[in-house]
Amino acid sequence: CRIVVLISGSGSNLQAIIDSVKEQQDVNVVAVISNKADAYGLVRAKQAGIATHYIDHRQYENRQLFDQALMALIDQYEPDLLVLAGFMRILTEAFVNHYLGHLINIHPSLLPKYPGLNTHQRALDANEREHGCSVHFVTPVLDGGPVIIQGVMAIESRMDKQHLEERVHCIEHKVYPIAIKWFAEQQLALVNNSVILNGQIL
Ligand code: GRF
Repeated sequence: CRIVVLISGSGSNLQAIIDSVKEQQDVNVVAVISNKADAYGLVRAKQAGIATHYIDHRQYENRQLFDQALMALIDQYEPDLLVLAGFMRILTEAFVNHYLGHLINIHPSLLPKYPGLNTHQRALDANEREHGCSVHFVTPVLDGGPVIIQGVMAIESRMDKQHLEERVHCIEHKVYPIAIKWFAEQQLALVNNSVILNGQIL
């Protein structure tokens, strides 16, 4: 399974993925692409001997043109799976459809709750008792694609936003590699906007 990872930042999820695929045969992160030059994830990828690219969205007149250039770059690597790991750009429908069923994201909330930004504060403000993260197939609906796996934690009264953020981040590092392993082992598919895991609709 050839994996391309898109990042914009620290890349701690990328690191968890790099570490976990090392243990798996025929599963490789073949390239890491960032739209931020100073994303620390690029350093992590280089240290692991993975090809890296920086592509600056500000150099493109509009979202369509940026996404076309990004697709051209990604497709040079002929990936089976495209992984969004803190990639902070909204992707066009054309882009999403090009990789449909081969494109996954991790989101720091228990989707369908709290799509979008600032998820931890919103969960606190709503007095949620549980919070967590979701890995989902990406579809044209922002943070709305079907969920593959979630990591859940209890919210305790003394917890603040930063606390939640750190805890959820740790959980992300556990669940993203699981979803990727399922995909690489062909246990996972997107069919008619539903997740199929081992032949069962989730
Ligand atoms: C994570 O919180 C993820 O849920 C969100 O972006 C963040 C990426 O963190 N989509 P990192 O760059 O992997 O550390």
